[in-house]
Amino acid sequence: AVIGFSQCMAQTVTVDGSKVVELLTRLANLSDHENPAVTRILFTQNDMLARRFVKDLMRENNLVVREDAMGNIFGRWEGSNPTGGVVLTGSHCDAIPLAGMYDGTLGVIGAIEAVAALQRSSFKPGRPIEVIMFTSEEPTRFGLSCSGSRAMAGTLTPEVLESKLDAGGQHFLQVANEVGYGAATTQEMLDAVRVLEGGIAYFVELHIEQGPLLEREGVDIGVVTAISAPAALEVKFAGDGGHAGGQLMPDRNDAGLAGAELALAVERHVLGTGSVDTVGTTGTFEIAPGAINSVPRDARLAIDIRDIDGPRRDGVVAAVLNSAEQIADQRKVRVASRIINQDPPATSHPNIVEAVATSADALGLSTKRMVSRAYHDSLFMARIAPMGMIFIPCKNGWSHRPDEFAKPSDIANGVRVLALTMARLSEG
Ligand code: GLV
Ligand code: MN
Ligand code: MN
Ligand code: MN
Repeated sequence: AVIGFSQCMAQTVTVDGSKVVELLTRLANLSDHENPAVTRILFTQNDMLARRFVKDLMRENNLVVREDAMGNIFGRWEGSNPTGGVVLTGSHCDAIPLAGMYDGTLGVIGAIEAVAALQRSSFKPGRPIEVIMFTSEEPTRFGLSCSGSRAMAGTLTPEVLESKLDAGGQHFLQVANEVGYGAATTQEMLDAVRVLEGGIAYFVELHIEQGPLLEREGVDIGVVTAISAPAALEVKFAGDGGHAGGQLMPDRNDAGLAGAELALAVERHVLGTGSVDTVGTTGTFEIAPGAINSVPRDARLAIDIRDIDGPRRDGVVAAVLNSAEQIADQRKVRVASRIINQDPPATSHPNIVEAVATSADALGLSTKRMVSRAYHDSLFMARIAPMGMIFIPCKNGWSHRPDEFAKPSDIANGVRVLALTMARLSEG
């Protein structure tokens, strides 16, 4: 009977991939860089315009819009059984500098289109269905990823949130207040955003794979079974600087070279686990004063380390921090290290894995169970609700770059699988 439900829904749920692409393209134009590059940083003018775009689109599709104190945007489709928690789906619309137009946005625009498709099919939800646009999945502005979902899951403290400053020296609440969100204090804001236990019956997120496997293997849909554990570190080295001509080599304590050694140590420790699942990236490396004729006095590195195995990832984090101390010692520079975040991995809920796989089957689409190596707001939703994710192929696995691309037909597939999955979860 359960299979029958999805097969029946599969006949009636239709999605026009080119329409979703058109909406994604309109959203992509709300960017600090010109098409095809997308740059949309939290609470900037283009982010606010994108928020307006999403809220308007939700309303056009009969969703009741509300926003929380951190700017997470919800669009609700009421159900006949509003006491059993909601089926929540969504992703993010912020974009790192020079990103593409599908990361995150597909999971928001695609979710609204999935709801529209269910409405066209005259499906009536049991559990209410809500679409969410999370605030700041990307860490660009404050150095902290997934701010909205971390807060919803109750994992943020005021101390942590207020310690993360943007380039202008402001913390989250200060900037949020300027654009009409926030509260009197960070504590009040976090309390207002936190989701009550049981409020979310299921959470599911549609996303491009951001890796090459689905395309390479010719598979239509990735059924995500787990999300890799991310960590982020900041390491600062400080030397004394000096004149590039006058200061002799034995007299130097070059902070830039300490940073360079640490970047190589990151690679060495990551490769040292012997597993392809361990990855590490020194994604920013700034030296100051940054003049050709000045010995670097300061170096600041931001280091991203991930693994599907949490304890093994923690081992690499510890080894990197230890190397930072050793290098500082050898090079006679000062060092200050800080862990920005060190989150556990998450496992998808079997009910959602099953719902996604059954929905794809009913649509005649091939599936592959896979791990998400990128993180998502799903990582934090998993702490308060059964979580699952749906991946579609993207060209060459490219993401976080302007030429990120997903085929309209794959987009339509993903949106249809999401629609059928939500219908099942709303009923079940
Ligand atoms: C999110 O964008 C990530 O870095 O995985
Ligand atoms: Mn991203
Ligand atoms: Mn994303
Ligand atoms: Mn991401």
